Amino acid sequence: MAYIEFKNVCKEYETGIIKQKALKKINFEIQDGEFVIITGPSGAGKTTIFNILSGIDIPTSGNVLIDGVKINDLKGRNLLKYKRENIGLVFEKDNLIENLTAKENIELSFNNSKQDLTWILKKFNLTNKKDNFASQLSIKENQKIAIARAFFKNPKFILCDEPTGKLNSKDGKQILKLLKEISNKENKTVIITTYNDNISPIANKVIKIKDGYLESVKINKKPLDVGDLKW
Ligand SMILES: Nc1ncnc2c1ncn2[C@@H]1O[C@H](COP(=O)(O)OP(=O)(O)OP(=O)(O)O)[C@@H](O)[C@H]1O
Ligand SMILES: [Mg+2]
Repeated sequence: MAYIEFKNVCKEYETGIIKQKALKKINFEIQDGEFVIITGPSGAGKTTIFNILSGIDIPTSGNVLIDGVKINDLKGRNLLKYKRENIGLVFEKDNLIENLTAKENIELSFNNSKQDLTWILKKFNLTNKKDNFASQLSIKENQKIAIARAFFKNPKFILCDEPTGKLNSKDGKQILKLLKEISNKENKTVIITTYNDNISPIANKVIKIKDGYLESVKINKKPLDVGDLKW
């Protein structure tokens, strides 16, 4: 059994009389500790997958199993507990509370297993920014804090929706390096969605989505170092 199993997942949105089939029988597996990129053009269904994997939304049909737990069947307090203890989320924007400092924003996270905040701030090169308000930080620093916060709770896996979407290539590479390190050195499953297929060579696994369909699942036997990425 794989760590994450997406089985025949369909998602249909209904707005008024219009129905939008956002996911059409998507199947994939993700192993524990894998560094995965889900890629595809705008509107392909990446954020829909992110929302379903994170328990924010449920599939119209099909199943999502994480570590043997069928998360689409969890409800109320059970779902909340599951999300809080297992999943670290990083959104494309608006991750932080503007009038809290960097440190306070990280501390908002539920701390599962006594992660050391000083160590995390150092690891993310944020020590000298810890008392800055979120509004006083660059987009890259905001994104780093969002990742630090997701990591602080020591989740089983971290999900990032377009983590480099608002960044230039230099800053984007720094963020990707950090995420890859979390996966490789800290043994976390990290899943990134992105429209930027150019970054795919750094992943262990690349899941391509197009028009709500699964286009391909590719395993990179020798993933590229982030530093060698042409972007
Ligand atoms: N809440 C919603 N209600 C109705 N339709 C939606 C909703 N969310 C997404 N969609 C539609 O579902 C499809 C997939 O959207 P999704 O946001 O998953 O794409 P995406 O791959 O993340 O795109 P992008 O790269 O632009 O972020 C699109 O056609 C979108 O318009
Ligand atoms: Mg999206």
